[in-house]
Amino acid sequence: MYSIKSFENGFEYIEIQNEFASAKIALQGAHIFEYVTKRGSLLWLSEISAFQSGVAIRGGIPLCWPRFGSLDSSLPQHGFARTEMFELVEVIEKDAATTEILMRFSDSHATRQIWDYKFVLEVKITLTQELKIELTTTNKDTKEMMLTQALHTYFNITDISNITIKGLEEKPYLDTLTNEQRSDKNSITVDKEIDRVYQEVDRDIILIDIKKEIKLHTEGSSSVIVWNPWIEKCSKMSYMNKDAYKEFICIESANAFDDFKMLKSQKSHTLSLIASF
Ligand code: BG6
Repeated sequence: MYSIKSFENGFEYIEIQNEFASAKIALQGAHIFEYVTKRGSLLWLSEISAFQSGVAIRGGIPLCWPRFGSLDSSLPQHGFARTEMFELVEVIEKDAATTEILMRFSDSHATRQIWDYKFVLEVKITLTQELKIELTTTNKDTKEMMLTQALHTYFNITDISNITIKGLEEKPYLDTLTNEQRSDKNSITVDKEIDRVYQEVDRDIILIDIKKEIKLHTEGSSSVIVWNPWIEKCSKMSYMNKDAYKEFICIESANAFDDFKMLKSQKSHTLSLIASF
């Protein structure tokens, strides 16, 4: 069962319900901002997020595309897809427990003004007892295209002080707060601001919370960002309450930094994530 709904200001989203899950996906940014199963809510959403044209939703899974981060000064931070309108191509109710949603975003005169490429970006979200999201970029231009991107997932947690992230031990990472290259033999726990870009990631990641365990399986990527703003930065972030840092951790399946992709004309690349809990 699904329907198109909107907030009072006209901001539209799709509401989906099946045997296993319920979800809400904004047409802006193909942005899933709610996914709930009988085990609870997988995604964190800021209580004060905007749902407004041209403003990224704070929480859920923003799509950072065609750039992750802010290294490319000609583009907005994390690219432009998260604030663009996607077309809803189809919703397929495969069976009582599986719903597939396909959304699409293509180049226009406006996108070519800031990023001079012809492209098709397709997002397929499968809602069942696990959440699957597939982001496929096709280069429709005649020239080669460089791509960096991320599924910038905000996971809902009980308390930031009580989580452990497994699967990134011994992997090289750039600590973007100090600009140092490092690696750790231990699993990750968080007791201060963290902003790291891991490379050479080839295993599933397990997020352990006191109430649940979330398994992340990513394909098409070998980089992962782990981010939490902690106290000071959180108090300055847009659309975030000052204590919000306690409630989420971002673990972002990415093609970032050394894991950029070069796409030849007419070639496609898919980045995908399956999150189960
Ligand atoms: C993370 C970055 O991916 O996104 C952080 O590593 C950044 O440095 C965070 O602060 C949030 O970015 P934004 O643009 O959504 O506020």
